[in-house]
Amino acid sequence: MNKINIAIDGLSGCGKSSTAKAVAKTLGYKFIDTGAMYRSVTLYMLDHQVDLHDSAQVNAALENIKIDFQYNPDTQKNETFLNEQNVEEEIRSMRVAGHVSEVAAIKEVRVAMVRQQQQMGKDSGVVMDGRDIGSVVFPDAELKVFMTASTEVRARRRQAELAEKGQHVELNEVINNLEERDRIDSTRKESPLIKVEDAVEIDTSDLKFEDQVQKVLDLAQQRIEAE
Ligand code: DC
Repeated sequence: MNKINIAIDGLSGCGKSSTAKAVAKTLGYKFIDTGAMYRSVTLYMLDHQVDLHDSAQVNAALENIKIDFQYNPDTQKNETFLNEQNVEEEIRSMRVAGHVSEVAAIKEVRVAMVRQQQQMGKDSGVVMDGRDIGSVVFPDAELKVFMTASTEVRARRRQAELAEKGQHVELNEVINNLEERDRIDSTRKESPLIKVEDAVEIDTSDLKFEDQVQKVLDLAQQRIEAE
């Protein structure tokens, strides 16, 4: 059967990654969480005290960063590795969340990440989630989805996710972080988050998880049949 590429973009915390993961599993496609890549770069920059305003330092750091994903049969998750080290937990911390939008706004960082992402999707059969997948990484993706949800719904979901990992964060702090990231991600000069004309918008505020996954699967099926 023909394989397509599926681009899922949208605001922080509206369930893009979990939806993309479930869709990829059903279709037997590769799932790539590009937010995890920007988070890994951020972790490296913080740990190595890289001056984000110094392009020479940023470029040197990018040369030393290798990111990949490995399936862990115990957790049944695709986990993120930064220079051979499993950073899946650490990149979801508030410490990283507090700086990732700043790092993701740097042109050199985006060029390096987009190059890797395009390489990962060159043979199709990929479900990729992020902010610029339909607009920059795969402008020719057969299916583009733009996900939204109200700020409160998104914050409550993120808070629950953090709590599951033992991080107890006040709802207000999560809301402030989400709003600040939305603002930076949507207004930055380099590849801001936009809904491209040919993307299908799905508001997940009142949708059950299974229903949002099914909506994307139905759209994917239509596109696959049209190939
Ligand atoms: O999807 P996420 O919340 O894990 O993404 C983390 C940050 O990375 C988010 O604030 C925006 C940035 N990002 C981006 O700029 N481009 C992408 N393709 C994916 C994420």
